[in-house]
Amino acid sequence: MPYDTSLNFVFWSPTKIVFGENTALDVAIEVENLKCKKALVVTDRELAKNTDIPERIKKVLGNLCVGIFSDVEADSGIHIVNQGAKLGKELGADCIVSVGGGSAIDTAKGMAILLKEGGKLQDYVGFQILTRPQTPHIVIPTTAGTGSEVTYIAVIKDHEEGRKLLFGDYNILPNVAILDPKMTEGLPPRLTAATGMDAMCHAIEALHSLQKEPIADGMALHAIKLIKEFLPRAVQNGKDMLARGQMLIAANMAGAAFSNAQLGMVHALAHTVGAKFKVHHGLANSILLPPCLKYNADACGDVYLDVLSTLGVNIKRIRPEEAGSAVAEKIIEFTKKLGLPQRLREVGVPEEGLKECSELALSDGAIVYNPKFISESTEVLKIYQQAW
Ligand SMILES: [Fe+2]
Repeated sequence: MPYDTSLNFVFWSPTKIVFGENTALDVAIEVENLKCKKALVVTDRELAKNTDIPERIKKVLGNLCVGIFSDVEADSGIHIVNQGAKLGKELGADCIVSVGGGSAIDTAKGMAILLKEGGKLQDYVGFQILTRPQTPHIVIPTTAGTGSEVTYIAVIKDHEEGRKLLFGDYNILPNVAILDPKMTEGLPPRLTAATGMDAMCHAIEALHSLQKEPIADGMALHAIKLIKEFLPRAVQNGKDMLARGQMLIAANMAGAAFSNAQLGMVHALAHTVGAKFKVHHGLANSILLPPCLKYNADACGDVYLDVLSTLGVNIKRIRPEEAGSAVAEKIIEFTKKLGLPQRLREVGVPEEGLKECSELALSDGAIVYNPKFISESTEVLKIYQQAW
């Protein structure tokens, strides 16, 4: 559907993308291109414990590496960012190479701020607070989902408050993203599926967002096409390098799409159960996507027809008002085949926790862009109940 003539938009995606098998081994070139000499590798505990990837990156960086910070956990928090930034300062780091999933990348974004600006991380919560480029940051993703390597967003948990803090700033966009399929080879099937569904949600939410725009639309639709074809293959066989590579591209395109077009209620609801009950971000999104599509159905039938068509469905006999339900059914079929859980009750969310989540979700930044206005916690609660 063409946009009308009143459309104004900005598309901003300055991150340099390097793609290909074993390109991570050339990370030193990227550090030198950024005129940096002291890189700190930032990675998560599991990756450092279970793989030799961080050590391999350190080795190929040689004299350009001043150390590894490997204390990042899932749902990284302010205290971890503080520890990493302290180490970076002590070692005189002039750039960061983050290696890992969304948590490691977002931690590195927070560290990039503290290394440049100092002060307290909480001072930079919100949108466009920073006034200058931050510490140079190269990302090597080891999952294909968050797209954080090309987004202006970092989500960092405030463990004391039990909520996720959102940092949205063009100055924290990474300088370089190295998409090396070999780096995702060891990701287990369930995590491959869950992170892949995060990317699917980014693409669909970018398409239905109130701030949707045509360049992001193109990237999101192509991402959906790639995820449909290659996520089942990557889950089935982790060593399928073609599938791994295409999933990295899909996650990257979906990331760039939502970094510009924004998200919606799926992420608002997923962030909340993630912060409260530690539900994996991709799993929460995957479970909440179908009921949210049904909720939004009457506001974006044409968009959902496009999604259906991209998912390979013949849309000739489907009316726009039926498209939301049809996409929801298609997503359920897809995630069942991927072996993913279908209910919040299966991923540790207690029924009595839904009410509080439904109130908290209304203050999540992503909900502002949902195509259908939602202001009552009772409406959110109904969606959580359907997903429970
Ligand atoms: Fe996400």
